[in-house]
Amino acid sequence: MSRTDLASFIARASALVRSHPEPADCVLALAPLVLDLVDRAPEFLQPEHYRSDPNHYARNLVHDAPDASLSLYTLVWMPGQWTPVHDHGSWGVVGVLEGVLEERNFVRLSPDRGADDGIELARGGVILLGRGAVTSFVPNPDHIHVTGVPTGRPRAVSLHLYGRMMNSFNTYDVQAGTRQRVSVAHNES
Ligand SMILES: [Fe+2]
Repeated sequence: MSRTDLASFIARASALVRSHPEPADCVLALAPLVLDLVDRAPEFLQPEHYRSDPNHYARNLVHDAPDASLSLYTLVWMPGQWTPVHDHGSWGVVGVLEGVLEERNFVRLSPDRGADDGIELARGGVILLGRGAVTSFVPNPDHIHVTGVPTGRPRAVSLHLYGRMMNSFNTYDVQAGTRQRVSVAHNES
């Protein structure tokens, strides 16, 4: 796959996004495309897309749509690097390029009234996503999770397609039962 093939993926994905306004339909349509893209990613990704950071997982922009309807990133996870507890506020499709990405899920017990406090979360299951695996999520109800790589496992690299520019997301304080909107730059966690 060349950069032209990446462009063709983006064109196909953009068309599917436009024709599937319902997030659950959208990820259903996009997941097979991402499965195929994962196989071909090493052929179009550049060295900068594998950039890691010793302090936290690294997020490297691969493509952002001019109309902000779509964004594609690589995330590089060194052993022991984790996200906070978070949700994305959008749909997303994730494919694993290298290593095993671990996702620990939380289940919301309190009803979502749009408030940022009084949020009761219970710990849910764990998913181990090996090379080639594709997973996805939709908002409402939000997919609340922690993602990373435990110490002692090799680094992981994953490809993340989102339904908007991923410039902010909700993080949760499980003990306090609160959440807050956090802004992130393209190349930061
Ligand atoms: Fe996430």
